[in-house]
Amino acid sequence: MAFYHPILFRLDAERAHTLTIAALGAWGKAGTPLAPSVPRLATTVAGIAFPNPVGLAAGVDKDGRAIDSFFGLGFGSVEIGTLTPVPQPGNPKPRIFRLPEDRAVINRLGFNNGGLDAALSRVCSPAKAGAQAGSPPSRGNKVLGINVGANKDASDRTADYVHGVTRAAPHADYITINISSPNTPGLRDLQHGAALRDLLAACTTAKGTTPIFLKVAPDLEPADIDDIARAALDNRIDALIVNNTTISRPGLRSANAKETGGLSGAPLAPLARQRLSDFRKATGAAIPLISVGGVDSGAEAYARLRAGASLVQLYTALVYEGPGLPARILRELDALLKRDGFTTVGDAVGVDA
Ligand SMILES: Cc1cc2nc3c(=O)[nH]c(=O)nc-3n(C[C@H](O)[C@H](O)[C@H](O)COP(=O)(O)O)c2cc1C
Repeated sequence: MAFYHPILFRLDAERAHTLTIAALGAWGKAGTPLAPSVPRLATTVAGIAFPNPVGLAAGVDKDGRAIDSFFGLGFGSVEIGTLTPVPQPGNPKPRIFRLPEDRAVINRLGFNNGGLDAALSRVCSPAKAGAQAGSPPSRGNKVLGINVGANKDASDRTADYVHGVTRAAPHADYITINISSPNTPGLRDLQHGAALRDLLAACTTAKGTTPIFLKVAPDLEPADIDDIARAALDNRIDALIVNNTTISRPGLRSANAKETGGLSGAPLAPLARQRLSDFRKATGAAIPLISVGGVDSGAEAYARLRAGASLVQLYTALVYEGPGLPARILRELDALLKRDGFTTVGDAVGVDA
């Protein structure tokens, strides 16, 4: 992720991303918040108090190097990861591609990350019962999610998730189980049948009292959606993150459109809206939904909330709109809620569903 800038956009996308995260990491220590807190936007989801419903999606700050900076931009939650038990390099470069004419990105990173333990050493522990003595100071009302995955060469993928959940639980406000990346061969198979049920049962046993979210792919058949919804309900999953990148290619114009990998950004929005509606129906609104995919404005965030999302997350719009985007979305969202007479953001959730 690199913000739109004529010089940064001349660099290879991954090089620009690394520079941006390094700069943000340095700024976070001295920076002041860009977005004031707005009482109307505060909301409680899965028992967690979020200062606002706009979160940073996983993958931007995989290794947790610039968490404070992203909170400083206005995000109510930051999800780090995906983190695997053992560090791994990911796929050969180049592996991130900008699609400027489509306001989109294709990536095939393949869970490149410095490993769970290295990221946990950078994370402050939340102010919660049972925080270990000597742990770093609390993040106050900022919500930190830790997204966990399996190593590419793991002989037992479920064991990798259980390890991740167990290690991350004392340090996270919530944990996300990511079984929806298209860039680790076979990973999405965990979204089906007995493999899914075994995985969720094992992870819910390992999580202790930390809420656990499941992140799904948009590339699902109706039967898959029902199956996932039922498994999530049966295993008391606390929220569903709908959705990851897509392997479909809906009418793209940019030169990089034929690259292999997961597509994100504006062209993903129609599919993300459809999957939000699908999961709302399939779960009977019994599990909170977090809508991700092409959210790029206060109006779009508001529409997702009204369609049944309790929270939204974003990644790709930040690349094209720049660091002022989260604060702008919060201002726009607040104005829209006020216009329509909602005193809290939670009152708007699902009114159009
Ligand atoms: C370069 C890149 C890397 C990503 N890495 C991860 C990841 O490690 N784990 C994950 O769960 N999602 C990852 N995602 C998916 C995003 O979290 C998000 O679900 C998706 O991009 C759709 O949102 P957007 O359209 O706002 O970008 C990544 C996305 C991009 C563009």
